[in-house]
Amino acid sequence: MRAQIKASSDPSSFACDTLVIPFFKDKKFNSDGRSIDKASKKYLGKIVASDEFSGKAGEVLSLPLLNDVAATRVVIWGLGEKNDLKRQGWSKACTALVNALAKLDGKHCAIISSVKFGSKALPSAWAMQHLSAQITRCTYHYTHTKPSKKIKQALINKISFINADASAANRQAINQGVSIGEGINIARELGNLPGNFCTPKYLSSEAKKLGRKHAAIKTTVLGEKQMKELGMGSLLSVGHGSDEESQLMVMNYQGGKKSQQPHVLVGKGITFDTGGISLKPGAKMDEMKFDMCGAASVMGTMSAIAEMKLPLNVIGVIASAENMPSGRATKPGDVVTSMSGKTIEVLNTDAEGRLVLCDALHYVKRFKPESVIDIATLTGAVIVALGSHATGVLSNDDDLANEILTAGIDSADRGWQLPIWDDYQKQLETPFADIANLGTGGAGTITAACFLSQFAEDYPWAHLDIAGTAWNQGGGKGASGRPVAMLCQYLMSKCGKTAA
Ligand code: BES
Ligand code: MN
Ligand code: ZN
Repeated sequence: MRAQIKASSDPSSFACDTLVIPFFKDKKFNSDGRSIDKASKKYLGKIVASDEFSGKAGEVLSLPLLNDVAATRVVIWGLGEKNDLKRQGWSKACTALVNALAKLDGKHCAIISSVKFGSKALPSAWAMQHLSAQITRCTYHYTHTKPSKKIKQALINKISFINADASAANRQAINQGVSIGEGINIARELGNLPGNFCTPKYLSSEAKKLGRKHAAIKTTVLGEKQMKELGMGSLLSVGHGSDEESQLMVMNYQGGKKSQQPHVLVGKGITFDTGGISLKPGAKMDEMKFDMCGAASVMGTMSAIAEMKLPLNVIGVIASAENMPSGRATKPGDVVTSMSGKTIEVLNTDAEGRLVLCDALHYVKRFKPESVIDIATLTGAVIVALGSHATGVLSNDDDLANEILTAGIDSADRGWQLPIWDDYQKQLETPFADIANLGTGGAGTITAACFLSQFAEDYPWAHLDIAGTAWNQGGGKGASGRPVAMLCQYLMSKCGKTAA
């Protein structure tokens, strides 16, 4: 995707496929709108003034082949009340626009950007960043195992912001938006790939590819032999029943000084979760191919920050295994020894995410991290608590939690905090090991995080439970690419590179 700011004294003669004109509820034209209205011999003005268009936020109306307008079509786009426009509302309006754009033909999309989108609650550079991320996002279509679903239209590959202020901040913002959108699409593609394609080895080959693509990323991969030497008995116990080899990958991005402490992202990469011997019911089990969406979000974020060349150090770690039943699989009641030395009673082999993550969380201590965030489709309980709108945020450090919540608001990819008070830790006690992998007595998302917290005591740590947000169900079924936008926003805020 290419994105640019373009000056045009007469946008009606600007050659492109789709020309988007935003309108607030007051339906007022500015000089760019008037130039197009004039070329259309007042047809545009007539439509906008009519009941065909109300100007409410997210309304989109496509007007093809206007007389004397160079664009193949003009799209009028409602933004609602001027004073109501905040990040969340802008994001919704952008989603509506790009959903419409995704169905239209044409490579070059131009947006009249002389209308002042911004306000105190909606920084205009961020508004452009978010729009360019969303437009980039809408060009993704899953075809890997359905090549017959040929996309018959030309997809957008160029965005022009017409008559936007060409400040350095705005130019940086639109480029960052493209990088974030592409990162989101990397996460969506990996998430959507079926379990027989996206195996732990496939994920590690993609991690290596990322290392080859970006000079600032160095990837190393540990196989089962090396993990055994490190004592990762908990991670390895998850893949025992599988014919696929478990993998631990480390993507080391150095964009800052060598001496700078890194931020670490740890992704759950269960490429398929049958539940193991504690087998899941058949209904919707196919969705457990999405159980590596945490890993996918780490990959997408690493790609985005490398594209943006953020001046900081970030290490992405992915703990990957396939959770299968077999004669060699771990059984309920088995006790395994984690890398930390703590013994774990596996009361339910379906609570496998925490078993791979705990060894990864112990492993990353060696990087002396400034912060560690793990991202995991960890519990069905978080869907009960928060549905599909908010990612669950749990942390041993309130400052870190607040920064993540703020990043979520600022990227329109929101989270909501749940507590991990000591009171819940008792629910994980067992007579047979240091800790059980299953909490009794409710609060499944919290007890899962309590389990992880015991392996993350040495650094500020947050856990993102994305079981409700990582993919969409129903007609538009597929990976959402969340929380790549939130993670990018967090990391951008850590090095002063947010769009304002
Ligand atoms: N991957 C699942 C969590 C999940 C379930 C995500 C449904 C999205 C939709 C995880 O490994 C799991 O099975 N968790 C169990 C934990 C339980 C056995 C303590 C769950 O949530 O039921
Ligand atoms: Mn499971
Ligand atoms: Zn799982």
